[in-house]
Amino acid sequence: MRTAEIRRRFLDYFAEREHTVVPSAPLPTPDPTLLFVNAGMVPFKPYLTGEDTPPWPRATSVQKCVRTLDIEEVGRTTRHGSFFQMNGNFSFGDYFKEEAIGYAWELSTAPVAEGGFGLDPERIWVTVHHTDDESAEIWLRTAELPRDRIVRRGDEDNFWSMGVPGPCGPCSELYYDRGEAFGRAGGPAVDEDRYMEFGNLVFMSHERGEGPGKSGYPIVGELPRRNIDTGMGLERMATLLQGADNLYETDEVRPVLDRAAALAALRYGADPQADIRLRVVADHVRTALMLLADGTVPGNEGRGYVLRRILRRSVRAMRLLGYQDPALPELLPVARDTMAPGYQEVADGFDRIAQQAYAEEDAFRATLRQGTTVLDTAIAEVKAEGGRALAGDRAFLLHDTYGFPIDLTLEMAAEQGVEVDRDGFAALMREQRERARADARARKSGGTLDTSAFREVLAAHGPTDWRAWDSLVTDSRVVAVLGPAGPLPVAAAGEIVTVILDRTPFYAESGGQDSDAGRLTAASGEAEVIDVQRPLPGLVTHQVRIIAGELTPGGTVLAAVDPEWRLGARQAHSGTHVLHAALRQILGQGALQSGSYNRPGYLRLDFPWRGALSETARSEIEEAAARALRQDLPVGVRWMPLAEARELGALALFGETYGERVRVVEIGGPWSRELCGGTHVEHAAQIGVIALTGESSVGAGMRRLEASVGAEGFGYLARERDLVTRIAEQLQAPRAELPDRIAALLERLRIADRQNAELRRRATLARAAELATAARDVHGVLTVTTTVEGASDDARALALAVRDRLPAGRPGVVAVGAAHEGKGSLVLTVTPAARDTGLSAADLVRRLLGGRGGGTSETAQGGGVPAGALPEVLEALPGLITGD
Ligand code: ALA
Repeated sequence: MRTAEIRRRFLDYFAEREHTVVPSAPLPTPDPTLLFVNAGMVPFKPYLTGEDTPPWPRATSVQKCVRTLDIEEVGRTTRHGSFFQMNGNFSFGDYFKEEAIGYAWELSTAPVAEGGFGLDPERIWVTVHHTDDESAEIWLRTAELPRDRIVRRGDEDNFWSMGVPGPCGPCSELYYDRGEAFGRAGGPAVDEDRYMEFGNLVFMSHERGEGPGKSGYPIVGELPRRNIDTGMGLERMATLLQGADNLYETDEVRPVLDRAAALAALRYGADPQADIRLRVVADHVRTALMLLADGTVPGNEGRGYVLRRILRRSVRAMRLLGYQDPALPELLPVARDTMAPGYQEVADGFDRIAQQAYAEEDAFRATLRQGTTVLDTAIAEVKAEGGRALAGDRAFLLHDTYGFPIDLTLEMAAEQGVEVDRDGFAALMREQRERARADARARKSGGTLDTSAFREVLAAHGPTDWRAWDSLVTDSRVVAVLGPAGPLPVAAAGEIVTVILDRTPFYAESGGQDSDAGRLTAASGEAEVIDVQRPLPGLVTHQVRIIAGELTPGGTVLAAVDPEWRLGARQAHSGTHVLHAALRQILGQGALQSGSYNRPGYLRLDFPWRGALSETARSEIEEAAARALRQDLPVGVRWMPLAEARELGALALFGETYGERVRVVEIGGPWSRELCGGTHVEHAAQIGVIALTGESSVGAGMRRLEASVGAEGFGYLARERDLVTRIAEQLQAPRAELPDRIAALLERLRIADRQNAELRRRATLARAAELATAARDVHGVLTVTTTVEGASDDARALALAVRDRLPAGRPGVVAVGAAHEGKGSLVLTVTPAARDTGLSAADLVRRLLGGRGGGTSETAQGGGVPAGALPEVLEALPGLITGD
């Protein structure tokens, strides 16, 4: 029975029994305890705990799930998939054990012709919590199961929770005996491979607290109602009903596995190690597809990192299988074809998904190329020095400079039998974070001045008369000039100092708006304003560079804001409000700004949102903002008591503090109403244009929109247009046909790349045959030395191919030098018979290269010599073999 059919039957069965069919929630979940939905019940958690009223008493779903905790197990066991689907039926305070058990039994065992799954009742075993007599009784009665197939187990196996605080309860699991071929007899307690779990009924009745994952945590209370949460793994059921050995061989997964095997020219089932890698590829490619479809983008933390790791693991597994070309363009479309029928988002988003996945693979391949050489050399050094562990600073260098992820370093080092000093690495990571934080703090406080100097100025001269809202120019008196060590009597040309005025038109950075630029002009000199801050309430400070003459305390200056700058600042700040309102109009009120920054020509806005915005959402937001500009909505400023502002629904933003009377900025009256101290345009058309330039992730569950505003916005659009014109000219195609033309070109390029690789491979093989035939006999050892122009990968491929063509059973040594950009490296491999005579590849390489290399006794490599020295190095090989 195909997976799609199992899914349909499950939902139909429960729909017929008054369950509302609820679509799968997206994988990224707002639940703060999880990154991704990891069980069918997660979207229903608030109904189970009583936090929210369930809209229906019964529900059923097939939920997409991702679990990456046991990612190392993927491919090794028959049952672990990082992505899986969970069929579930749920009761929120409605039916309980009796019905839950009855349904599970009936659906599992009813004949296929009658809508069931047709499992053989004689082969089903169940488990119950050791204290749960009631469930055991129900199983006896409902299923007429013999007592010896009702197994009682403890908390570890039969008390279910999400592994974190939340709803929990005893559970009863269903197992299917797959027969002798799969393991030992004796039930699920003896062998979970032979007895495969295919269903779990959780009697959700309690709430657990903090503690370890599976057992030994405190029960903190009872739930308001008794609920049912069940899970029937869709892939497990498919494994059983398709007679597959494991989940990777079921109809939704197997096609990717087969494609991977074909690419690597391997037969699945021939080599256990390769089989594991093929299963890893099949699993990971599908998981990545589903995560990308739900808007997760590869990144360096949280969800993005999980995705990045999965994508990288699949790419690496393909390389380890011997496939060197970009693998995802070959594999992802296969995964799409199996998953799209069940998940529309996969079909709809595939262009974007593919783009993101392929870009990630390209970036990773570049990282691998660079980092592998560095890592190999470092490992060779460790080995040459007789050490066992790679120093933390080397791992850190790889991470910091080459973007080589630490888990990859660990994995690749382990493959060569070397450990990594993880503590040393972690300490360096901590130091780096500390440095970054201290740096950020120093920049924020504007340098070394502490606030005591400011306090003194404030006490002596009172607060600054701040005129930014209504003036661009003021006649002001210099109240103080401060250097890093405190008050100065004078500041001269070239110096950067802090100036405090009695009155200023300069806007001090706040509420996301950057500070104003402009000049202070005195009879004695002139200064350029670099930064304006408000370090204490009431006190405005100007960081200035004296550009001519000098400034002295007590003197008068003309303080003038650059009017162009201010116009740009007003456009950008009002633009931010417009974009915020547009965002909430399209995405809903939850998209509340949680941080923003704007300066002339540019704005950005952060808001909580799961997943990337769709292309449609982006253009709808842009259009809603553009409409406000076209309608030329009036911009108004009103002062009112805080309570009244709240009453009006004005948005008070996170992290801001407000006084009793507040300033409310309105655009189009209620359309946009925010508490704000910024400078704004008078009506929306003055903003000119808001052109979205970017949308990205800034940490877990947080997105960032960026836009070009005003004159820069027009400039941006004009540049985009010019770009399209240039591309159209180059391709000599009408603009509308460009996407298709480019796609076709890329496709041709991909085909050409493949053909090229194939030609190279054939040429190598042809050369290998020649070289093998021309091997020199050095005291009975067939010896081949040659040099190639290219990377060490090419040299390795050639060396192995030559070795495999030497007559079987004869001792043979093959050394291939690679000359690449003036640098020389060497790959050396020996036949088994040569090893039997005591020749070791690692040993030979080290002796040829004076210690700069390493590897196994069979194959080794090294480098660190100029390309020109390779002939001489190779020349020495026969001498080493004969021992002369
Ligand atoms: N929530 C239960 C599980 O995931 C059904 O096993």
